[in-house]
Amino acid sequence: MGFDVDDVITQGTTDELARLVVGDGTWHTSGVPRLKVPRVRMADGPHGLRVELGGSLGESAPATCFPPAVGLASSWNPALLRRVGEALGREATAAGVDVVLGPGVNIKRSPLCGRNFEYFSEDPLLAGALASALVYGLQSTGVGACVKHFAANNQETDRMRVDVQVSERALREIYLPAFEKVVTATQPWMVMCSYNRLNGPLVSEDPWLLTDVLRGEWDYTGVVVSDWGAVVNRVESLIAGLDLEMPHVLGNSDREVAEAVEAGQLSRELVELSAARVLQLTHRVADAVRDDQPVDEAAHHELARQAAHESMVLLANDGVLPLAPRAKVALVGEFARTPRFQGGGSSKVNATRVERLVDTLAARRQVRFAPGFLLSGEPDDALVEDAVAAAEASDVVVLCLGLPDADETEGLDRTHLRLPEVQRALLVELAQTGTPIVAILSNGAAVEVADWADDCNALVEGWLGGQAGALALADVLVGDVEPSGRLAETIPVRLFDLPSSLMFPGEPGRVVYGEGVFVGYRGLDATDRPVAFPFGFGLGYTTMRYDDLAVKVTGTPASGALRVSVQVRVTNTGERAGCEVVQVYVGNAPASVPRPPRELRAFSKVRLEPGESRTVTLPLDARAFSFWSEAHDRWVVESGVFTIEAGPNSRDLPLSQELRLDVPALRVPLHAESTIDEWRSDDQAWAALLERLPEGASFELPPEVLAVVGGQPLRRFVKFPDMPLSAADVDAVLAAYGG
Ligand code: GLC
Repeated sequence: MGFDVDDVITQGTTDELARLVVGDGTWHTSGVPRLKVPRVRMADGPHGLRVELGGSLGESAPATCFPPAVGLASSWNPALLRRVGEALGREATAAGVDVVLGPGVNIKRSPLCGRNFEYFSEDPLLAGALASALVYGLQSTGVGACVKHFAANNQETDRMRVDVQVSERALREIYLPAFEKVVTATQPWMVMCSYNRLNGPLVSEDPWLLTDVLRGEWDYTGVVVSDWGAVVNRVESLIAGLDLEMPHVLGNSDREVAEAVEAGQLSRELVELSAARVLQLTHRVADAVRDDQPVDEAAHHELARQAAHESMVLLANDGVLPLAPRAKVALVGEFARTPRFQGGGSSKVNATRVERLVDTLAARRQVRFAPGFLLSGEPDDALVEDAVAAAEASDVVVLCLGLPDADETEGLDRTHLRLPEVQRALLVELAQTGTPIVAILSNGAAVEVADWADDCNALVEGWLGGQAGALALADVLVGDVEPSGRLAETIPVRLFDLPSSLMFPGEPGRVVYGEGVFVGYRGLDATDRPVAFPFGFGLGYTTMRYDDLAVKVTGTPASGALRVSVQVRVTNTGERAGCEVVQVYVGNAPASVPRPPRELRAFSKVRLEPGESRTVTLPLDARAFSFWSEAHDRWVVESGVFTIEAGPNSRDLPLSQELRLDVPALRVPLHAESTIDEWRSDDQAWAALLERLPEGASFELPPEVLAVVGGQPLRRFVKFPDMPLSAADVDAVLAAYGG
């Protein structure tokens, strides 16, 4: 590489270093021509390359559009995600792109979030595992990944200003772990900070998140880049640990930074720190060994097809699927001709080709197409009549339903989960014909299905299937391929069954995550709500049996070396090969904080031939039993009886075994506002306090008094009249035993 980082830092003028911490235009770092520092080129998008050819969000160069994260996540298959990452890397290299801006791993707090199609799951372990695999694949080709949007960017409403008010526990247990996994497992070349505020400060100016957590705890060494337009005060953001402002027209923030250094308001060392990280990124790009073979478009299309196979989720099937070879099919719904295969905004790919079900299914079965409804949502009786006539003349209806493009884009959130009225009305008419109905959904986030799913003989959640989605769907409908997706997000009966729904998208300027850790299935299980289809659910074309659960424990939580090995045997009891996603949940013991009934702690996807059995071993460590204790500012395991549960989905766990963990009781660090109960629970401190009683005095509190005053802070209580102890006594003992 034509430059040495240390030389540039020492020889660079303040102006030149200030250039390095801001971008040059929309897609490049700035570089320093005088010192032979080139620029680095970035481009969106998590599920396909978006290299702009003109203005912002304008025309982009053709690229393979893989299923967006909502689909890829339903595969529960890290190996697949890695292959998609490798393909993205090859296309980025061919396009001269050095870093791909993705994946997005924000948690699906509410299905209403307009950008959920770009995100993986309501569960952080699943999101982190799959995103890590994609990043690993991408970076193995010598192209960088940029995991985003760090953090707590879970809605589009007022995304650039909203103050997300969320407990640290919910952050640590729900909103940060996917980032933590990607950062600690793959060291992504970049991390993109989000637009929003987090408990007050703008994330782009938040040293706790960008430095203390990301670098201090997770040892991140790469570049923190702003989301596009997320920087308000470049000096403050630099101090917080934001290395690169994007986009940027030179002569603005770089001048502010240089002037702040000249004026002594900002240390040059701080600028050097971020500049050095940008230089190290530039070196990484230059030193990367990249596969410059021409992109095999057909092979990537085939990979997109395979990804779509594993992305769709069979939710119901009375046997109507696979479609009989000679079945006459009424293919109804405009989406069969105008497919929805991705969402809107910065991730939108100019697909190299797009399959349509009117073509792909017609190549396999006798098909009569009827659009059935207008995408505009305008009622059209003639279209309904035509669809009913097609149904009456056919053996089966394949009905393509879904959300209009406009409902699922960056920048907007939905306000309800219903399908358009014209689609639901059409389904009612078709159901009256008595012809069996296979409903196919094209949507980027959960929709309400409970009030019409029973009218269908089969239901496929196709999500957004990418450019080859319709080809994959035809493969599955005719039975050439088995659907093997599992829900990575719950499909609730109603939106308002979700605890988050009352506080989404919040009030002007503020959204309070009042549900805490009770997001998705965690909340629905805790409130014992029925669901339309549970997290982890999905059917195939065969049947599986679970047995032989074995749980082996080594080490202890106290030693920090607790290891729990969970073994499960799965058998394909059906007539054809199929996949199963073995899921292991830990049922939480009652704790000193409210905890979800169970949480996904491990999973593995296996493919079994008919009659084949396989024993799957899944490792758990102490984190699988822990919660984040704000009192101790760390992960904590408390004693109790946990249950290890294994099965096909979060609400069907046929195997379970109790596991008792004994952990020495943790002292709650005492402080000036600790209550009498908290003091009494600390034997040593309480004894030390009683030793300070005057001769003959006592501080015994009978149970009926304790019931009333136990929750009062002791230091205030001893100031009441006639107390045998004083605040000074409390302070003295605090000095010896306090937290
Ligand atoms: C957008 C998105 C981000 C994207 C960036 C560049 O606003 O939030 O995901 O990578 O800007 O297009």
